[in-house]
Amino acid sequence: MNETLIRIENLTAVYGHGARQVRALDNVTLDIHQGEIFGLLGPNGAGKTTLLSCVEGILQPEAGGVRIAGVEVTRQPQATKSHLGVQLQHTALLDDLTVAELVEVYAALYEVFLTPAEISAVLARFDLEDQAQKLSRRLSGGQKQRLALALAIANDPEIVLLDEPTSALDPRARRDVWAMIRTLHQEGRTIVLTTHAMEEAEALCGRVAIIDGGEIVACDTPARLIAGLDAYPVLKTACDVALAQAEGLPGVRMARYTGEYLELETSEPQATLAALQVLATTLGHSVGDVTLRQPNLEDVFLKLTGKALVA
Ligand SMILES: Nc1ncnc2c1ncn2[C@@H]1O[C@H](COP(=O)(O)OP(=O)(O)OP(=O)(O)O)[C@@H](O)[C@H]1O
Ligand SMILES: [Mg+2]
Repeated sequence: MNETLIRIENLTAVYGHGARQVRALDNVTLDIHQGEIFGLLGPNGAGKTTLLSCVEGILQPEAGGVRIAGVEVTRQPQATKSHLGVQLQHTALLDDLTVAELVEVYAALYEVFLTPAEISAVLARFDLEDQAQKLSRRLSGGQKQRLALALAIANDPEIVLLDEPTSALDPRARRDVWAMIRTLHQEGRTIVLTTHAMEEAEALCGRVAIIDGGEIVACDTPARLIAGLDAYPVLKTACDVALAQAEGLPGVRMARYTGEYLELETSEPQATLAALQVLATTLGHSVGDVTLRQPNLEDVFLKLTGKALVA
C-alpha cells in the first residue's frame, strides 16, 4: 500500500523570464503512494495546476523532477504518460464532437482503441449513456464535469489526475462526483486531485499536501494534520458578551469575535454552553442559535500560513 508510485523531488517550476519570472513551484518534494487518493489543497495561484502539469510532462521543470513508477517523466514522456488519465482544470472539449466520439478520441490519444460497446460502458459509468450522441457543447455543467471524468479514464489508467474535479458544481452534483471518484479508487487506481475546498479534501483524501506560494507547507492524513493543531472545538453564537467575561467561562481556551459572532474555543463545550446561558440570562440576553464545530483543515491552513484558505 505504501509503495511510492509518483516521486516528486526538489521540483522547481518557473513561468516567464527575467523580471517577469514567476516561481510557481519552489523545491517541492512529495511521494504519492500506490492506491491512495492524494489531495493537493491550496488557494488560487498556489501551484496546484503547475504541479500536475509537471507530472503530466506538459511543463518542463526548472530543476528537480518527477518519476512515475521509477521512470523520469522528462526522459521518457510516452512511457510515463501511459500510466496517466488526466482531467485538466479547463478542458477545452472539442465542441463539434459527440460525447461518444470524444471518449473514442481521448482513448486513442493514448493508443487505446475502444469498441462501441466499450465506449457505451465508459459512458454508463458516469450516467451519460443517454447523452452519447449529443454534442458536448449541449451538455449541462454537471454533465460536462462527468464527461471530463469519463475522458480521464477512457484509456483505463492506473493513475488519475483530477484538477478541481468539482469546481462550480452544486452540492448534489458534487456528491455524485465524489462517489464516482471513490469508485475509481476502489478499482485500485491511484487518484491525485487538486482542490481549494477543505471539505472536499477531508471527504475524499487519504493524505493531503497543503500547498501555498509554490511550497508544500504540510503533508499528512487530514486527521493527523488537524490533531497536530492542538485545537479545541469551537462554539459559535451571536450572544453579545464582553470578551473578558467569555474568557472566564469554564473550559474556554480562547474567545474572539468574528464579525458579529462570538467564537469560543473550548475543551468542555457542554459546561461552557451551560455557563454562557446563565451569564446571558443575568445580562438580560438570550444565547440564541449555537453551533459547535470541530477544528478542520481550514484551521490548519490558517495556522500554517496565517491566511484563510478561501478568500
Ligand atoms: N502560463 C503561465 N504563465 C505565467 N504564469 C503562470 C502561468 N500559469 C500559472 N502561472 C502562475 O504560477 C502560479 C501558480 O499557478 P497555478 O495555476 O499552478 O495555481 P493553482 O494552484 O492551480 O491555482 P488555481 O486554484 O487558481 O487553479 C501563479 O502565480 C500563476 O499566476
Ligand atoms: Mg489550478
